[in-house]
Amino acid sequence: MPASKIGTYSDLLDEQIAAVSVDGVKIALYKIKENVFATNEMCTHDECSLEDFGKIRGDEVECMCHGAMFNIKTGEVTKGPATIALKTYPVKIINDDIWIEL
Ligand code: FES
Repeated sequence: MPASKIGTYSDLLDEQIAAVSVDGVKIALYKIKENVFATNEMCTHDECSLEDFGKIRGDEVECMCHGAMFNIKTGEVTKGPATIALKTYPVKIINDDIWIEL
């Protein structure tokens, strides 16, 4: 699938989670130490929104609904109760634009 432009780098705040929709898929964007990462926006445990209930903890996101944690770069579960990894998406920054491939 071709890359989609999903936002503007300078609009992203450090250590905050921003949600965007691309072709009906809700994506969470994370800006950590100048880098941007993208995962599915919905926690795989019980479908809580990571934009609303996620907290960035270093390289991980904690879902405050039930405490599951995921590695933001790989999507892997680092703490239950979730057992299924978040899907991750490659991100490119070109000039000030953020592009991802679904
Ligand atoms: S919905 Fe995220 S930990 Fe339960």
